[in-house]
Amino acid sequence: MKLFHKPSKVQSLINFILVISSFCGLYVIASVLLLGTSKLVHVHFSSSQDVSIDTPTTLDHLVFGIASSKSSWPKRKEYVKLWWKKNNAMKGCVFVDSIPDEKDIASNDTSYLPPLCVSQNTSHFRYTCKGGLRSAIRVARVVAETVALNHSDDVRWYVFGDDDTVFFPENVVKTLSKYDHRLWYYIGAHSEVYEQNRLFGFGMAFGGAGFAISSSLAKVLAKVFDSCIERYPHLYGSDGRVYSCLAELGVGLTHEPGFHQVDLKGNAFGLLAAHPVTPLLSLHHLDYTDPIFPNMTTIEALQHLFKAANVDSQRVLQQTICYDRWFSWTISVSWGYAVQIFPNHMHLPDVLKVQETFKQWRKGNLLAKSYTFNTKEPHRDACKRSIIFYLDSVSSDKDGIITSYKKSFQNCSDDVASPRKLKVVKVVSDKLDLGIKQLQAPRRHCCDILPSSAHDQLEVAVRECKDEELIYMHR
Ligand SMILES: *[C@@H]1O[C@H](CO)[C@@H](O)[C@H](O)[C@H]1NC(C)=O
Ligand SMILES: *[C@@H]1O[C@H](CO)[C@@H](O)[C@H](O)[C@H]1NC(C)=O
Ligand SMILES: *[C@@H]1O[C@H](CO)[C@@H](O)[C@H](O)[C@H]1NC(C)=O
Ligand SMILES: *[C@@H]1O[C@H](CO)[C@@H](O)[C@H](O)[C@H]1NC(C)=O
Ligand SMILES: *[C@@H]1O[C@H](CO)[C@@H](O)[C@H](O)[C@H]1NC(C)=O
Repeated sequence: MKLFHKPSKVQSLINFILVISSFCGLYVIASVLLLGTSKLVHVHFSSSQDVSIDTPTTLDHLVFGIASSKSSWPKRKEYVKLWWKKNNAMKGCVFVDSIPDEKDIASNDTSYLPPLCVSQNTSHFRYTCKGGLRSAIRVARVVAETVALNHSDDVRWYVFGDDDTVFFPENVVKTLSKYDHRLWYYIGAHSEVYEQNRLFGFGMAFGGAGFAISSSLAKVLAKVFDSCIERYPHLYGSDGRVYSCLAELGVGLTHEPGFHQVDLKGNAFGLLAAHPVTPLLSLHHLDYTDPIFPNMTTIEALQHLFKAANVDSQRVLQQTICYDRWFSWTISVSWGYAVQIFPNHMHLPDVLKVQETFKQWRKGNLLAKSYTFNTKEPHRDACKRSIIFYLDSVSSDKDGIITSYKKSFQNCSDDVASPRKLKVVKVVSDKLDLGIKQLQAPRRHCCDILPSSAHDQLEVAVRECKDEELIYMHR
């Protein structure tokens, strides 16, 4: 469902695909013309503008459709294990072309993972996108085949992703709960890379980031989907096929920036440390980026992030900024992940820019470094960059949650006024439980520097901002 990420990854092929996909992407123009805005069609009952659902949306109301294959599942299942609730506490299926060999599946896997479903035979559909993979059709049909699993009537949302999409399920539920599932919604995010969106569509939910379709819409989509597939044999990917069919139904994308396609390579720190004020919904392409914590494997690092997510899912990666007036430091907390201390005063909008710690997805393209958000280059002198403290431990009791962050190695000598003398940052916060109104109109939190109990430790308390409070350095 994603770009360029299924089995073969040879660089030359990728470059070839780039050329081809310009052609495979021409359809976008036509589809955009068809994009409707009305999501109010086919509602057979009175409904106010507000979400007026009798009972709150929970995980029970969601069904997941995960696209995988016999060859990728044995390795990628480790990603799904991170977020899938064990012992069938969640609904859904992993769609494979055929059942992986028994030796590749540990005996205790079944209780930690969704069931496997074998996709239907799609060989009668045409696929003409040269350089693409015809498995795109099979993967696109996961949408229809998941609906056809006939889960009970109280399904509100269908959520789709790849086997290397790491969801944060509580946050997905929370975010979807602000929408009325009885209306037609197609909810997802585009790529971080301008060029990818130009080729594949700003209106398309990129499949690897994960996306959600309301049950009312999904049922109609499932009915008409095969007829749509026939019209788009020239498209590259699965997500383009889903997008095209929804465009034919007149439904456009509702953008949720908590879904992350992560069309980036190398160190994703900058992206994670400057998350928008919205719950983290997914991460993707973790085979292509460095482990998100130093000195850990990719999976260990994600497990580490989930230690924070399991205590306060909604606050994970939420960025809070405060200033130390005495030293003129700028402190940025990306909760559950990292704290940065900049040894100078920075205006808030500069702290919110994404540091370009990562490498571009594809080399050599003029546009490839143009992202869909503001970036800034890290300082050329490593000693002038922010000092990074990575999550070390999480604890919680009735008084709140304490996350502790440990200084990462930086090859710079200490000086007295430098935050480099700090070894640990402790952050105190309450569990975040956003109401519908706060989800609809989010506001960043504020923080205070607390009097520290140790000279090599900084303590920060995160709290809601006061009505007229401004985040800036008070002189
Ligand atoms: C599953 O079993 C394997 C060995 O068969 C073991 O290494 C692993 O820790 C087990 N996983 C869980 C989650 O219990
Ligand atoms: C799929 O269907 C085609 C004919 O439409 C058949 O030749 C092929 O063997 C089938 N594949 C599988 C895996 O059943
Ligand atoms: C789901 O329901 C449809 C229509 O009632 C039926 O055709 C289909 O076989 C059912 N699928 C499963 C997996 O039970
Ligand atoms: C990495 O972890 C290992 C064992 O957990 C430890 O011995 C080593 O010092 C760590 N390296 C760094 C640079 O933190
Ligand atoms: C730290 O930097 C200095 C000078 O740039 C270099 O000589 C030294 O080898 C570095 N030490 C480590 C552990 O990287």
